[in-house]
Amino acid sequence: MAELTTPDELRETVRERYAAAARATTEPTAPAGCCGADTAIVTDEQAEQFGAGLYADGEREELPDTALLASLGCGNPTAMAELHAGETVLDLGSGGGIDVLLSAKRVGPTGTAYGLDMTDEMLALARRNAAEAEVANAHFLKGEIEAIPLPADSVDVVISNCVVNLSTDKPAVLREVFRVLAPGGRVGISDVVAEDRLSEADRAERGSYTGCIAGALSKGEYEAGLAAAGFAEIDVSFTHEVADGLHGAIVKAVKPA
Ligand SMILES: C[S@@+](CC[C@H](N)C(=O)[O-])C[C@H]1O[C@@H](n2cnc3c(N)ncnc32)[C@H](O)[C@@H]1O
Repeated sequence: MAELTTPDELRETVRERYAAAARATTEPTAPAGCCGADTAIVTDEQAEQFGAGLYADGEREELPDTALLASLGCGNPTAMAELHAGETVLDLGSGGGIDVLLSAKRVGPTGTAYGLDMTDEMLALARRNAAEAEVANAHFLKGEIEAIPLPADSVDVVISNCVVNLSTDKPAVLREVFRVLAPGGRVGISDVVAEDRLSEADRAERGSYTGCIAGALSKGEYEAGLAAAGFAEIDVSFTHEVADGLHGAIVKAVKPA
């Protein structure tokens, strides 16, 4: 961590890690990367906490193998977001596109699912997966979640799977989510969240920033950040422990109508 002195350098390290992870799905010899893992290989234990294992069998059957292989999330945001036909959904840090493809199917041909990612290799992989799954209402945008390239009030639901913790400017992410959501719009995010008792040093000890761990907000910080951005009906609930005091969590909130 000591050599990662600026947010730009840190973001570049994150981008390189996920570019390698995208390549690993199509080039078996390339090093794999995984949210939650600081090593190149996903252990059996991590496979239960991260990735395609968190999806139901029926959902996995709906998707191409490469979308499943590229799954690096820590939850299943589409399962809790209760998507409806015709809605517009935005997935922050869409990776290989697993949640965008599932969302596109849930909102149907009258709805739209956008995936936003900063890594070219992930965008290319997601677009290939959308073509293979023959999903026409999924669109992948290049950009950073701290500056979302969509107009204000244009999205019904923002989802995300194990990405907000990677951001070097989390207040900016929450402000941007609030801006793009239409009044009454809702948030359903899976993320790694720390217990309030863990200091920043504790979090750093438990894993690298790029492995989704050291960058995690605490539950109280998440709730306060959402409130500061203007959200109501805020709920941050732990689902499964991924390291001592660090949990997979479901984050919900609503932009007041
Ligand atoms: C842990 S992976 C999760 C991918 C996907 N959500 C999933 O569940 O498989 C993190 C993804 O977020 C992207 N990412 C990380 N930080 C980002 C940022 N600040 N802006 C845009 N994309 C980002 C990475 O390129 C990568 O594709």
